[in-house]
Amino acid sequence: NAHPRLAQVMPSLVRHLHDFAREVNLTVAEWTAAVDMINECGKMSDDRRNETQLLCDIIGLESLVDEITSKMLATSMSETPSAILGPFYRQDAPLLSNGDSIVNLSPSVSWYEQAIADSAFLTGRVVSGRSGMPIKGAVVDVWHTAPNGLYEQQDESQPDMNMRGRFATDADGRYSLYALRPVAYPIPDDGPAGRLLAMLDRHPYRPGHIHFIVSASGFRTLTTQVFDDRDEYITNDSVFAVKDELVVKFKPRDGDSKALWTLEYDFVLGSQ
Ligand code: DHB
Ligand code: FE
Repeated sequence: NAHPRLAQVMPSLVRHLHDFAREVNLTVAEWTAAVDMINECGKMSDDRRNETQLLCDIIGLESLVDEITSKMLATSMSETPSAILGPFYRQDAPLLSNGDSIVNLSPSVSWYEQAIADSAFLTGRVVSGRSGMPIKGAVVDVWHTAPNGLYEQQDESQPDMNMRGRFATDADGRYSLYALRPVAYPIPDDGPAGRLLAMLDRHPYRPGHIHFIVSASGFRTLTTQVFDDRDEYITNDSVFAVKDELVVKFKPRDGDSKALWTLEYDFVLGSQ
């Protein structure tokens, strides 16, 4: 067989789908509604919106696949756990210098005050899980929403690539940047995924989180998120991505006019 993995996966997929249909007595009308829904997801998706992924996420599928993949690939217990990529990553975020800010603040935006109150200095080291040694030249690609709960590509009031940046670690493996404490926000709920949540009496909120992709040559690229422990949705994420080790505590920061909070967080990478 030219496609051994497919030959393994498809019979199992078909068996489980058939079992599911039999178990719930799935009708033609219900199956048609599901096909329509998936088609609608596809039609609504583009560079800025991935509704099919969102649909997978609210049933926990992306988190499950992330969990399975990380368990298969982990080389050491101490590695920082992964978390889902989510639909709002953009490649080619600005390459910034350590100590730079990813926040483009104009006093005219409605969320200006919130941004000052949540201003945060983020720092930490990228280290090898195998040796514990710092990794120089690792790239920390970071993104999160503005205080209005929107990623830059969802929001015309933000400049292109706002709240995104890439930082290379120094000789001590350290990255540092200014960002914000993240806020909780609803996943886009004006499409099929949101309708399904509503029909299931589920809320669309994700706890405030910051996304990271940490990469370094010779190491497995880490896609993860950290979650602010102040958040009420931490135990109730609409897409099931929270892991205990990824819940972080921001500490008050003294003597820095640019930030009221500090987060120190190290990333431990597995070997390739
Ligand atoms: C999803 C993930 C995110 O990180 C986010 O900000 C919104 C939605 C998701 O998994 O669908
Ligand atoms: Fe997100």
